[in-house]
Amino acid sequence: MLSPKLQEAINDQINKELFSEYLYLAMADFFAAQNLDGFVNWMMVQTQEEHFHATKFINFLHDKGARVALKAIAAPQADFKSPEEVFRAGFEHEQFVTASISNLVDIAEKEKDRSVQTFLQWYVTEQIEEEANFDKLLNKVKMAGASGPALMMLDTEAAKRVYTPPPATGANPGAGA
Ligand SMILES: [Fe+2]
Ligand SMILES: [Fe+2]
Repeated sequence: MLSPKLQEAINDQINKELFSEYLYLAMADFFAAQNLDGFVNWMMVQTQEEHFHATKFINFLHDKGARVALKAIAAPQADFKSPEEVFRAGFEHEQFVTASISNLVDIAEKEKDRSVQTFLQWYVTEQIEEEANFDKLLNKVKMAGASGPALMMLDTEAAKRVYTPPPATGANPGAGA
């Protein structure tokens, strides 16, 4: 049984993951309007990552016999000054999500819920990569600056990103049939 406090905190996190998906969809749309199709692809892959993060939490609540309370998803920022601003906003958003996951770990520790603590370790590790992905691209876009050809090269590189679904979505991958 999950404590009501943990159940509420996980439901809040599901909303944050779905908002992340929404935010990156908005960023993909911004890039589409600029004909930067490689960055559109990169952001679309990112939305799939976020969708997976949300559904992994949802499956966990189901495994624990808890209800999911889906809340309204806020409208994300739609316009940005430059590709650099997009990746900076993405990087800052990932730092916010990392802090939120850390807070969840704190709650699970206070509630002495070992299963949630163990489950959250996947997200703690995942957030290292999430921040690094945005940070790397932010720095490359910064270096490209006002250079059109350099930005086009980054766009071509971003077009190669593919979504690789993790092996299982349950709380305990590999368990059961
Ligand atoms: Fe996420
Ligand atoms: Fe993320």
